[in-house]
Amino acid sequence: MNEAAMMETPDAIDYMELDTIIETEYGLSRENLIMILQAIQKRYNYLPKPALTYLATKISLPMSQIYGVATFYSTFSLEPRGRNIISVCLGTACHVRGGAKIHEKLENMFQITDGQTTADHRFTLESVRCIGCCSLGPVIKINEDMHSRIQTDALEKILAQYE
Ligand code: FES
Repeated sequence: MNEAAMMETPDAIDYMELDTIIETEYGLSRENLIMILQAIQKRYNYLPKPALTYLATKISLPMSQIYGVATFYSTFSLEPRGRNIISVCLGTACHVRGGAKIHEKLENMFQITDGQTTADHRFTLESVRCIGCCSLGPVIKINEDMHSRIQTDALEKILAQYE
């Protein structure tokens, strides 16, 4: 875990909002830990350390246990992520149709590697293994939007839709 990156908090933590999530929505219950973490990540796009520390106190769980859950599930991120998450499918069907070229082009455009976030926090680039629409490959997912049969020269136009 990169402690330095975790210290960066592009968003100030709104503790009243956290109270709403932890207390009102999930009843201060340890049983709801995963759902609370999902809600925090949805709000911040990652799990900010101060929010996890606050959560640990509120539900009386050791931080080690919270980190244990947060690091077990790959959907959680402990480091700041971009406002837009680009998932490039590198599953077999997409790979043979040029998925790797799409991924490489995005790395070059953003000057980042897989898993990293652009300096302006606009995009995070991730590779994934099959997102269930193999016949439409190569596919990329940006946030909740699927883009199919992507060509490298279409990328700039697609990315322009995401601020
Ligand atoms: S391999 Fe890409 S969607 Fe299945």
